[in-house]
Amino acid sequence: MDFLKINGPSSLEGSVKVSSSKNASLPILAATLLYPGKCKFTNLPELSDINFFIQILESLGAKCTKEEVDAASIDCFQADYDLVRKMRASVLVLGPLLSRFKQARVSLPGGCAIGSRPVDIHLSGMEKLGAKIKIESGYIEASCDQLVGNKIVLPFPSVGATENLMMAAAYAVGETIIDNAAREPEIEDLANFMNKMGFNVEGAGSSTIKITGKVLGEIKNEPITHEIIGDRIEAATYIIAALVTESEVRVEGFKSAHLDIVLDTLIGMGAKLEIEENSVVVHPSGRLKGARVETAPYPGFPTDAQAQLMALMGICDGDSQICEHIFENRFMHVPELARMGYDIKVDGRNAYIKGQSKLKGAPVMCTDLRASAALVLAALKAEGESQINRIYHLDRGYANLADKLKRLNANIDRMKS
Ligand code: EPZ
Repeated sequence: MDFLKINGPSSLEGSVKVSSSKNASLPILAATLLYPGKCKFTNLPELSDINFFIQILESLGAKCTKEEVDAASIDCFQADYDLVRKMRASVLVLGPLLSRFKQARVSLPGGCAIGSRPVDIHLSGMEKLGAKIKIESGYIEASCDQLVGNKIVLPFPSVGATENLMMAAAYAVGETIIDNAAREPEIEDLANFMNKMGFNVEGAGSSTIKITGKVLGEIKNEPITHEIIGDRIEAATYIIAALVTESEVRVEGFKSAHLDIVLDTLIGMGAKLEIEENSVVVHPSGRLKGARVETAPYPGFPTDAQAQLMALMGICDGDSQICEHIFENRFMHVPELARMGYDIKVDGRNAYIKGQSKLKGAPVMCTDLRASAALVLAALKAEGESQINRIYHLDRGYANLADKLKRLNANIDRMKS
């Protein structure tokens, strides 16, 4: 199994262009199931999650290459357990299969390291559109005569549920309103892609999304092309890497407006940032001040940047606190950071981080995608060699991370064990 060898402390320099967004690519790949023609993508990210999702589309009968999906001849409506359990986002095939083919059998995704990750909000929304849903030996069995538009009020602005229901409503008769919808930029990118296919989605990015259903024959099958938005969480990770190493780095290829609250938080801690429309230049900012941060649905502080921020907070001048409101078990990076000298106490949803600056390199283990990124950031700062194991977690969401950091002058190598 590959691992990363990092020698710190590193100082970084130069610029890095982030890849396209994993969390926009996955729902957009699912949405190709709605379209009886070719969808070409100019910049799908090189991530294991993307490769995996393409395998799922192929298992349903889609014809795929590295950058194109042709879902004209879908002939299977079942997403198997051994595929879905490895990638929870596979549950996003449910909405499009149900909407276009009126049936779907999708394994319950099960939990993952960061939480139980139920899909009750997805399923109750589909029942509001007239779907018959039953759970049978670990599978979601969904069927309908014809979905009918309705008003759905989400009990929580779930990103996945919003996306699944937008796609389920695509061929529903009449209007669907999703209230208390998630507002993430990845939802807007999905809506733009769906409208390019000929569907009618309005209000994405706000809490109220309206989908006016189409009839199958209304949707043409001409080839369409789409460019996925930049990955704001990858961008946040490199911005924090520059702050951790007190370096001057330009991070580009994403909309800085998608990181407003993250940039405001960092500036409040003393970060010197030059913010442009599609890039941020980090200037050496020395030791920052601690802060108190609560994660929340967009536009609140993103849970996906929480672990990375913690790695920075642990070397600040002063103490910090993070409250993780989104996932019930998203502090697994804490014991691994402690191996490098971090002093962090966890009490339920709260983490109390002591600011100090004595970090020592150590062998550590990745537990989940964003926790892994936090370990890399810490290793860039720590004195001496760190070995970061189980980096298959990292490969899910960070394309060519070692190469990108190496090009920024980090002392990092990807090794084979
Ligand atoms: C998406 O997951 C992202 N994944 C996650 O990114 C991200 O952390 C999360 O949104 C929150 O922003 C993708 O987009 C592929 P949710 P998702 O539904 O859709 C509860 C990463 O690191 N909930 O908004 O699963 C759930 O348990 C990944 O890139 C229900 O209770 O997130 C959680 O506590 C990790 N019932 C909260 O809502 C449901 O039916 C947020 O979940 C659905 C969700």
